[in-house]
Amino acid sequence: MTLFMEKAVISINGIITPASEAKIPVLDRGFIYGDSLYEVARTVNRTPFQLNEHFDRLWKSSSLCKMPFTFSRDELLKEVLQTIEAFKKNDSQSEVYTRIMITRGIGEMGLGKSAVQTKNQRVIYCKGFEPISDQKFTRGMSLCFSSRIRNDRRALDPAMKSGNYLNSVLAYLEAEERGFDDAILCNAHDQVTEGTTFNLFAVIKGVLRTAPLSIGILDGITRRDVIRVAKEQSINVLEEPIHKDELLAADEIFITSTLREVFPILKIEDRSFEHPGPITQKLRIAYREWAAQS
Ligand code: PDD
Repeated sequence: MTLFMEKAVISINGIITPASEAKIPVLDRGFIYGDSLYEVARTVNRTPFQLNEHFDRLWKSSSLCKMPFTFSRDELLKEVLQTIEAFKKNDSQSEVYTRIMITRGIGEMGLGKSAVQTKNQRVIYCKGFEPISDQKFTRGMSLCFSSRIRNDRRALDPAMKSGNYLNSVLAYLEAEERGFDDAILCNAHDQVTEGTTFNLFAVIKGVLRTAPLSIGILDGITRRDVIRVAKEQSINVLEEPIHKDELLAADEIFITSTLREVFPILKIEDRSFEHPGPITQKLRIAYREWAAQS
């Protein structure tokens, strides 16, 4: 167990325990069918960051997943804040990673609602995490194109942040096998959608490009903020489909996510970049400054 794990805490339906002791019934639908939703939030300077935005997206997922919640926003917020505080008591330094997981509930075999007891299960997992250091940023990461396509919106809408992550897990395992750090998923038309756990941006002919939400991606909270910050910096932003060949010819590529903020890609298939590009660096700084103030 890592040091972070030893200090980690988990709240299950409001009851906080050390992570190593937390248990969930086998008949939970999250375990059996991946019938669950989740969010990953973090602290900035040990203060909860953008919980409102994460809650908004969780409630949007609830509607996309036809999973009405049997608890209120205030109840969940209270539990999340309590779990973060419990972790902070165990660890006086680290930033806090917070994973909020909601399952449809405990039930019998069978897909219908009648097989489910009426209550959702709420699980909140808090552990420490290290924000991306300058050294890590400079090293960047490598990406390959997965041979697997992103789930089509009509199959399993990627806008719904569900616990069923097999589309991403299998793409990640393929990247690992091929010696890359992570993978990008395209759609059936070879247009870039997003990565396994991140959104993707590219600088192409001086314009900052990213796939539109309509292509079938998660509405990333960092993606939204980076688009806004880029516009404030007078950078031209275009939310339009990017063909994988255009991405291979881009001047800069970076990813965005809650945990990795703005993070450079220094290798994509057999194309390499020497350093994080100037726009990537500028946006990382501008995003961090904004995040520290909000
Ligand atoms: N991942 N796309 C996917 C498929 C994701 O899983 C995530 C987040 C993002 C970025 O969204 P945001 O900027 O709101 O974090 C995009 C989280 C961090 C995770 O699963 O750990």
